Amino acid sequence: MNVMIIGGGGREHVITKYISRNPRVTKVYALPGNGGISQYAECVKISAEDIEGIVNFAKTHAIDFAIVAPDDPLALGAVDKLEAEGIKCFGPTQEAAKIESSKIFAKELMTKYNIPTAKYKVFSSIDDALSHAATSDCPIVIKADGLAKGKGVTVAENFKEARDAIIACMKNKTFGKSGENILIEECLKGPEVTVLAFTDGKTIIPMISSMDHKRAYDGDKGPNTGGMGVVAPNKYYTPEIADYCMKKIFVPTINALNSEGRKFKGCLYFGLMLTQDGPKVIEYNCRFGDPEAEAVLPLLESDLLDIMLAVRDERLNEVNVKFKDGASCCVVLASHGYPMLYLTGYEINFGEAESLPGVEIFHAGTKLEDGKFFTAGGRVLAVNAVSDDLASAREKAYEAVSMINFEGMSYRTDIGTK
Ligand code: AMP
Ligand code: GLY
Repeated sequence: MNVMIIGGGGREHVITKYISRNPRVTKVYALPGNGGISQYAECVKISAEDIEGIVNFAKTHAIDFAIVAPDDPLALGAVDKLEAEGIKCFGPTQEAAKIESSKIFAKELMTKYNIPTAKYKVFSSIDDALSHAATSDCPIVIKADGLAKGKGVTVAENFKEARDAIIACMKNKTFGKSGENILIEECLKGPEVTVLAFTDGKTIIPMISSMDHKRAYDGDKGPNTGGMGVVAPNKYYTPEIADYCMKKIFVPTINALNSEGRKFKGCLYFGLMLTQDGPKVIEYNCRFGDPEAEAVLPLLESDLLDIMLAVRDERLNEVNVKFKDGASCCVVLASHGYPMLYLTGYEINFGEAESLPGVEIFHAGTKLEDGKFFTAGGRVLAVNAVSDDLASAREKAYEAVSMINFEGMSYRTDIGTK
């Protein structure tokens, strides 16, 4: 079987590594892939947003199965176009991906189907948005409607911050069309939990819960990033809460999407906040989280490709999706300056880190040249350790981190201490 994976970060590295283990796989291509992924796949210089290029490549390389991992190609309809050419895909259609690509759509869906979420208002006029913000009690949350590379949300502590965020979206067009319409939401409080779930639109199977660390610096300080580390499972997510979420959030979301004629097949990401009034949805993503995938998938015991094929063919109910006992701790190593300006092109020394038992190093932004790895992105590596419990997973992950170095290497030292 020839498999193609779209994307080139740590998430795509873990997926590529694990699907390569399936004996049915003969060849894997990654578009565009990265240095680490090139150990398991042939990397092809086609961008994840070049849908025409992706479809042409698939047609000329006898691709049997495509995994579309990032949000942009999903929102651009990569799955629809590949499936129209007879290429089976893991990932939602453009219509179903709207649950991530429009936050207003997601909110309206939750309201219509009684799925718990923060109270909100939609604005298409900057004056209305500013006057609403001026009369609201802070903190309030300002969100651009569309995709914004993880930067479209501002938790505003005061009116000035709210005003700056509204002006950035609606006047300065920092996020282009994505910020033409915005949401202003009530600010929720409580521990955050990520739950990734496999679904074929009929069956939904949640994976082990996790906790992302979105802020750049220790103590949840500094700007938001794509994610600086993850632990799984998330200790706040008790079996009782999981049961509640299944009944009140996960199943109702799948049913709601079906009722709207937007059947979702792929990985659905639930960003939840455990408030005093119960769990509420903060956001949906239409894909695996990054770096959540690098912490959660190492705990998966079942074969990833078999699950993905079952999702595509709507027979997820026939597969046994099993997770290992134990815990993961994943620490992201970034380039100095990330998520703002940073330099790349520095050689990475791994020391003995890769030989530590339970440790896996996923490449987020690297390139391979003459047998050596160099930095090539803001997030460079995701170092994950699996162990019997979180404390020992954390110890192992940081032991591995201490063996790695590159110029400007930056990371949080407090992943998994919350
Ligand atoms: P998102 O880009 O949607 O993942 O949002 C980024 C972060 O903003 C989330 O992980 C939360 O920490 C925070 N956030 C988003 N919406 C809310 C809300 N309604 N209340 C409190 N925090 C929020
Ligand atoms: N780590 C958050 C995300 O993938 O959206």
